[in-house]
Parts: sequence; structure tokens; C-alpha cells
Amino acid sequence: MTLDDPRLIERADPHRAREVLTAFPAQCRCALTLVATPPLAISRPGLVVLAGMGGSAAGADLLAACCAERLDVPVVVHRGYGLPPTAGAGAHALVVAASYSGDTEETLSAVETAVERRVPVVALTTGGRLGELARTRGLPWVELPDGLMPRMALGYLFLASQRVLRDAGLAVGGDAEVAEAVDLVSALADELAPARPAVRNEAKQLALAVGARMPAIYGGSATGGVAYRWKTDIEENAKRFALAGAIPEMNHNEVEAWRAPAAKGTHAILLRDRAEPPEIARRFTVLRELIEEAGGDASECWARGAGRPAKLLGLACLGAWTSYYLAGGGGVDPWPVERLDELKRRLRAA
Ligand code: PA5
Repeated sequence: MTLDDPRLIERADPHRAREVLTAFPAQCRCALTLVATPPLAISRPGLVVLAGMGGSAAGADLLAACCAERLDVPVVVHRGYGLPPTAGAGAHALVVAASYSGDTEETLSAVETAVERRVPVVALTTGGRLGELARTRGLPWVELPDGLMPRMALGYLFLASQRVLRDAGLAVGGDAEVAEAVDLVSALADELAPARPAVRNEAKQLALAVGARMPAIYGGSATGGVAYRWKTDIEENAKRFALAGAIPEMNHNEVEAWRAPAAKGTHAILLRDRAEPPEIARRFTVLRELIEEAGGDASECWARGAGRPAKLLGLACLGAWTSYYLAGGGGVDPWPVERLDELKRRLRAA
């Protein structure tokens, strides 16, 4: 299979997802201008709940991993209906609810619960029912630019929610860290683009290394959330199953599944960070040995940059492009998500 034939890539991508991925740096720069209106009326909450589903929760995972390094306030990612009982008015909590379409019932339910409990809530959306709810209730909301698939709006979702926290007195990273992240994704937009041949394109190399096998993405303590993002991007863009796990937890369960002959049909991608603790590095080394002894193989991707926003956003970009080439290589259009849409249609009709 070649991924260097522009006709193959363009044929599989009639909605031009490649242009959205290439424009990701511009999306990030635009995200830095987005603020909530009316402004938030809460300072230094004691608990932050980041509510969202699917692609709209991916920014929350990245943000929570950045917060874990910096903040002394718990930041919880909530995927589901309602809100956890800990998010009550007495907890001095803040709910940040993201739904790109604005029509996701779980996220709407989280916002309605926040309103009922009088917990301050800010919405991130292009509009839909969530935009309407925010407008009629006078809730602070960040209006996101429209026209993307939600999972491709990661720059808006991650950086705008980071700004919301900063405006609430919880500074996750300074301007220099954000600038580093934007510079890195700008470099990656060139390095991973379809015009860059596979010999010099890490995303194409990874897609070729995976080939027809099942990808299994493993991160460490900081990169585990990005591993999950790779899995969901592969599922939605390439329409293929993928596994994801985080070290050390997967050393206590999923590692047992790395046996011959299934190992030969699975390709591991290890998301490494040069700042990972030595305990985690040792576990990656031993995991790779076990995978190879079982007849499987593994690729390693190293996070670039110094700050966590750059490391995580950079790895997420690499995952997005890898899933894009897995789609293109299989002749699959990465844009539509027909099964998701059908499921939502049936739920509405039920
Ligand atoms: O990537 C996608 O299209 C999905 O994972 C959606 O993000 C998910 O269904 C939730 O929709 P929304 O992001 O509009 O809230």
C-alpha cells in the first residue's frame, strides 16, 4: 500500500478532512480569542467538572491531564447524564460543559442538573439546544466556530476550556506554554500532511506499520488520555476497532491478552514522554519485550515540546493524522459517522 499517491488520499476524502487537519494551527490561534459571554462570575472554584461526550470530551481529557500537574483543585471529566453528587452548590464547583453540536442529550442533562443545583456552569458550543439554553438562561457560553466534525474541533475545545479555567482563577499553563503548543502543531501540520512522503512522515509510517492489524495504543501517566483519543479517532475516522490503555493500569489486565497468535494481529503504539517517571519508563520497556516475545510488534512515539499542552496536543495531532491515513489507506471516508448518527436517530424516535 502507498500513502504517497495523492489520488488515493483525495478519493477517500471527498469532504476534505485533510484541509481541516492542516488548518489545525489556525484553529488553535482562533481558539485563543474565544471567551465566555457573559463573563464567569466565579473565582477559584474548589471542584471543576468537565462535562462532554465523544469528540467534545477529548479536550477535557487533555485539560485534566494538564491540570493534574498544576492545580490543587480536583478536575473531573464527566461523560454521562446528570452530574456527580459531589458537584453541588456547597462544593463551590464549576461545570464546564462542551458539546460541539449543542444537541448531545447527556451534556444537556449535565447543564440542566447544574442549573437545578445552582452550580455555576459555562457552555462551549456552536449553538444547538445548548446554545439556546445558555441564551435563554443567561448562562456564560463560548460560541465555537461551526462547520467541523466535533472530534476535529479539538483546538477550540481544549484551548477555550483552558481559557475558561484561567478566567475562573485557575491558571493551568502560562502564555509561553500555550505558544509552544501552537508552534508545535504548526510544525506538525507540515510534517504530517499528505504532501510529505512516508519516508519523512511519522503518521504515514505509523499507519503503514499498523496496516491491517488491530492498533493498541498505550500511554503513560500523562499520555494515557491521549491514547484514548487515538482509539476514538481511529474508530470514527478509519471505522476500525482500536484498543487503548494506560500504564501502569494495563500492566494489571490487558497485558495478559498479549499472547500468540493474537499478538501477531495487533500492533502496539506506545506514547512516550521523556519526562515520564523512571517507574513508567521501565514498565514500557518490559511491556515491549513481552509484546515482541509473543510475536507482536510495537512503534514508539515520543511527545515533543517542554510543556504538557504541547506534548499532549502534539501527540493528539499525530494520532489524528495516523487515523486519517488508516482511513485513506483503506479507502474509507474519515468524515461521516453514519452509525453514530443512526444511533442518535433511533434514540430520538424511541
Ligand atoms: O466525534 C463525534 O462526532 C462524536 O464523538 C461527537 O463528539 C459525540 O457524539 C457528541 O456530540 P457533540 O460533540 O456534538 O456533543
